Amino acid sequence: MPPIHPMPPIGLGTFRLKGDAVKQVLRDAIRTGYRHIDTAAIYRNEQAIGAVLQETYHNPQTTITRSDFWITSKISPYDMKRPREALLQTLRLLQTEYLNLYLIHWPAVARKSANSPEHKILRLEAWNVLNEAKREGLVRHIGVSNFTPQHIQELIDETEYGIQDAFVQMEIHPWYWRDALEIQTRFRGYGVTIVGYALLAEGRLVGESFPQVLDDISERLGLSKVQVVLAWALSKNWGVLVKSENIDHLQENLGALSAVNVLTSGDLAILDSISSAGEEEKLCWDPRHVK
Ligand SMILES: NC(=O)c1ccc[n+]([C@@H]2O[C@H](COP(=O)([O-])OP(=O)(O)OC[C@H]3O[C@@H](n4cnc5c(N)ncnc54)[C@H](OP(=O)(O)O)[C@@H]3O)[C@@H](O)[C@H]2O)c1
Repeated sequence: MPPIHPMPPIGLGTFRLKGDAVKQVLRDAIRTGYRHIDTAAIYRNEQAIGAVLQETYHNPQTTITRSDFWITSKISPYDMKRPREALLQTLRLLQTEYLNLYLIHWPAVARKSANSPEHKILRLEAWNVLNEAKREGLVRHIGVSNFTPQHIQELIDETEYGIQDAFVQMEIHPWYWRDALEIQTRFRGYGVTIVGYALLAEGRLVGESFPQVLDDISERLGLSKVQVVLAWALSKNWGVLVKSENIDHLQENLGALSAVNVLTSGDLAILDSISSAGEEEKLCWDPRHVK
């Protein structure tokens, strides 16, 4: 079996990219140096990603192999009753024998009201199946996405496996990050790793309402605003996912890694203070109503 691989902290997001579009972005990203790819069954792009990965391994001009990549995928809320079959289908489409990380995408099963008791039953069952797949070597690591601290606590209290070394993928940006901090702090003893998405806050980060304080920091340090925010999240030991169809942006975003050591503690405090506790704005789907 290939060795356990540390997760590259900056991953390529692929949400809403399909077919030729995802193929082109992935080729550009691999050439730029990305080795962490985030997909999901529900993105319907696993087959296209698998094709580009095969093309990469067989390219005589590179020496890149499967073990150079960190590949994350997620079980669809529509497949919560058949988690093992869903995983096997994902492995087939991505043309790989194992995933580096497999996540439960969402704490609820599709087409049920938020307060249905079925959600909890199915996510606990799915968690057991993911643990068994990890034992089998089909996945190296497992985790959850969009789970609240309470949903995570249930995995500890009500499954035989618990959450040792689990990953949690969730929305994170300067307007919403304290839930990530709470999960990181509360479950630190379990070796939990946090990975953020929507770091650009659905366009707010590069739009007109961008806070002047961030302009000041980016100008002073010669970094882009996006690099400043990615570096802020990385400095908290959170992995980050970013999607771009623009090769300059792909390069810029990867450059955030070297910006981490440039931000001062004062800069980080300014970024923290963009939102205040209790008044944060969650912009993406909200799991807090899921029973
Ligand atoms: N688990 C979940 O439920 C969940 C939910 C959402 C997302 N995700 C994952 O996280 C990934 C990222 O989230 P996302 O795709 O919603 O959006 P995102 O990465 O937060 O933002 C993508 C947008 O930002 C722009 N952008 C990227 N880099 C930029 C830069 N340096 N300067 C200016 N604009 C830039 C892109 O435009 P250009 O193409 O022009 O660069 C694109 O319009 C997803 O693709 C997915 O893999 C997971």
